[in-house]
Amino acid sequence: MKITATAVALFLWALGSAFAVSPQDSCVTCHSALEGKQAEPARLFAADVHRQVGLGCADCHGGDPKDESMNAMSRAKGFRGAPKKAQVPEFCARCHADIAYMRRFNPKLRVDQLSQYLTSVHGKRLKQGDTKVAACVDCHGVHNMLPASDTRSPVHPTNVASTCARCHADAEHMKGYKTPTDQVARYLKSVHAEMLAQGDTAAPTCSTCHGNHGATPPGVTSVANVCGTCHVFFEQLFVKSPHQAAFARMGLPGCVECHSNHEIVKPADDWVGVGAKAVCVNCHAVGDKGYAAAQKMAGDLARLKTFLGRAEEILGTAERSGMGVSGPKVELTNAHEALVKARVNVHSFNEPEVRKLTEQGVDIAQKAYQAGVVALRERDVRRKGLGISLIFIVLAVSGLYLKIRQIESGSRT
Ligand code: HEC
Ligand code: HEC
Ligand code: HEC
Ligand code: HEC
Ligand code: HEC
Ligand code: HEC
Ligand code: HEC
Ligand code: HEC
Ligand code: HEC
Repeated sequence: MKITATAVALFLWALGSAFAVSPQDSCVTCHSALEGKQAEPARLFAADVHRQVGLGCADCHGGDPKDESMNAMSRAKGFRGAPKKAQVPEFCARCHADIAYMRRFNPKLRVDQLSQYLTSVHGKRLKQGDTKVAACVDCHGVHNMLPASDTRSPVHPTNVASTCARCHADAEHMKGYKTPTDQVARYLKSVHAEMLAQGDTAAPTCSTCHGNHGATPPGVTSVANVCGTCHVFFEQLFVKSPHQAAFARMGLPGCVECHSNHEIVKPADDWVGVGAKAVCVNCHAVGDKGYAAAQKMAGDLARLKTFLGRAEEILGTAERSGMGVSGPKVELTNAHEALVKARVNVHSFNEPEVRKLTEQGVDIAQKAYQAGVVALRERDVRRKGLGISLIFIVLAVSGLYLKIRQIESGSRT
């Protein structure tokens, strides 16, 4: 059989494509054998999300992954090297802003990271040449990038605070800026951080309020307005309240003015009123309408809590005495509900609104209290009845005893 040149070529071509399917990536092979910074990318890359979808070193860096010599990295073969920090966003966006390209892999993945990033303080400052800000790899890592949904990813909600902390809690790194470096420490003391640590992913982390990439999250004009995206009722009440216009006029933020932005702690009833812990007296003083309203609101809440306490106590006593009070106890949960609603309605900053709710609660609590009184009275009646029957039983037993003694002494004689 005569072996033609064409057959040889075909054979070599088949061999070549066989190699392509079982990828002998020269970039990985050679870099794995190098040391330190040159070897690390190859070592880390196995777990990288880009590797997982079949991309290689050359898809990002260019060059020829089939060439086993240093020529693999020649500019003639499209090698673009490692980007400088200022070039990183565009380096990533070559793919991530290309809808047609990204759709081939994952049609649901957003492609606006770069355009959003450019609206952020990070993006704007990087364009001005400030390389201390965060670029893509500062938040996502490099060569070991993971999907955001992976719990090991530095941008997974539970890890975001420590990712931001690398710069924002580092006074040395942030030297020269006017921005304080206490956001992370304060955030970690918040209800939000506590809920997130307990696995409640509905609670916000840094990027939920500040946006993943952009200056603000979608649909929010200013970060100070972000609270209403989750605490919808509070926002609705606040917007209708006298504070809305007054705060706007004075250039004050809404929620954050009373709750702060990072160290958001669990509020308590003594925040309302004119006492030492009340937030109202930060702005209101004796003689103005807000002061009077604050005082009355605190009174409304206290009154309901007093009635609730009394009702709970008496029903508790009745229950411990074996009286059935489950009905009134169920009723009483509605009074608790009224207290919860009243606390939310503090945000109407309208005292009659709050009183309407607390008085509904007081009515319910009073009825429950009465049920407790009736139950205890019934307990006493039963106890009295029990006492009387006990006396009769004792009398009968002692009579019987005497009778037996009498019979016994009679039979001995
Ligand atoms: C034969 C070994 C070898 C092969 C094959 C190889 N490299 Fe390299 N690479 C090196 C060495 C050595 C260095 C460090 C010296 C240098 O910068 O030239 C380096 C440096 C680099 C750098 C850093 C250069 C910079 O801009 O700072 C990148 C990025 C890189 N290689 C990517 C690749 C990619 C992508 C491939 C495959 C297309 C590849 N390498 C193939 C040996 C190799
Ligand atoms: C998703 C894109 C991407 C892929 C894939 C990728 N790299 Fe990189 N690589 C980068 C970026 C971005 C940088 C610059 C990192 C920085 O500035 O910290 C970089 C930097 C480097 C450097 C310079 C390291 C240094 O500290 O100077 C080397 C070497 C390198 N990559 C090699 C590789 C090799 C080898 C592979 C394949 C195993 C690979 N890269 C895969 C994006 C990528
Ligand atoms: C060669 C094109 C390309 C380049 C360059 C590139 N990526 Fe990707 N990236 C992809 C593809 C494709 C995916 C996989 C999408 C999928 O299947 O979900 C991906 C996935 C990701 C994911 C995971 C997304 C998720 O949550 O599912 C992150 C994060 C990511 N890339 C960040 C970067 C960063 C940061 C850079 C720059 C250092 C970069 N990429 C450069 C193509 C690229
Ligand atoms: C300040 C930190 C930070 C920077 C800088 C950053 N990212 Fe992200 N990135 C995040 C966070 C946080 C998420 C969302 C995690 C989640 O969904 O819970 C994310 C998500 C992603 C995703 C998944 C899809 C999505 O949009 O939700 C991709 C892809 C991505 N980033 C690419 C990039 C690219 C490309 C750059 C640079 C242009 C970049 N990121 C810059 C923090 C950052
Ligand atoms: C690589 C370091 C670095 C990382 C990581 C980083 N930042 Fe920044 N950030 C900076 C620097 C530097 C500035 C500029 C400081 C300034 O303008 O006062 C900045 C500015 C900001 C600002 C604007 C501050 C202002 O003055 O209004 C916000 C908001 C912000 N970062 C949030 C975040 C969040 C949220 C994360 C984490 C998802 C994060 N940053 C991660 C370095 C970083
Ligand atoms: C519940 C929403 C929320 C969360 C969570 C949050 N922030 Fe903020 N942050 C704000 C608001 C609101 C401001 C004030 C912005 C304004 O007035 O425009 C702010 C301001 C900032 C500033 C500007 C400087 C300053 O202190 O005023 C930085 C930087 C910042 N936050 C970083 C972070 C970091 C880092 C985290 C995570 C540890 C974080 N934020 C978590 C809402 C939040
Ligand atoms: C991403 C959604 C989200 C955002 C944005 C958000 N929160 Fe929250 N917040 C929660 C969740 C979830 C909880 C815990 C469950 C609960 O008590 O509602 C919580 C709890 C609270 C609590 C404690 C409630 C209690 O009874 O203990 C206060 C106060 C609070 N947030 C105020 C704010 C303020 C002020 C902002 C804006 C700066 C804000 N939140 C932004 C989701 C959010
Ligand atoms: C003028 C001060 C003030 C403003 C502005 C304010 N709050 Fe409050 N907030 C309070 C006080 C006081 C309480 C405590 C009520 C109580 O427990 O009796 C409270 C309680 C809360 C609670 C917990 C309620 C509960 O069930 O215990 C949440 C959540 C909350 N506020 C969210 C918000 C949000 C969201 C905004 C903005 C739309 C906002 N607040 C604006 C003063 C304020
Ligand atoms: C950040 C400052 C600030 C805080 C804190 C504050 N207020 Fe006000 N409040 C105002 C301003 C400003 C007005 C507009 C009327 C005025 O100038 O007195 C107002 C108006 C009111 C009004 C309407 C008064 C009228 O004229 O009819 C009520 C009621 C009120 N506040 C109740 C409260 C209560 C209750 C609290 C505490 C939970 C509180 N405020 C906390 C600044 C504040």
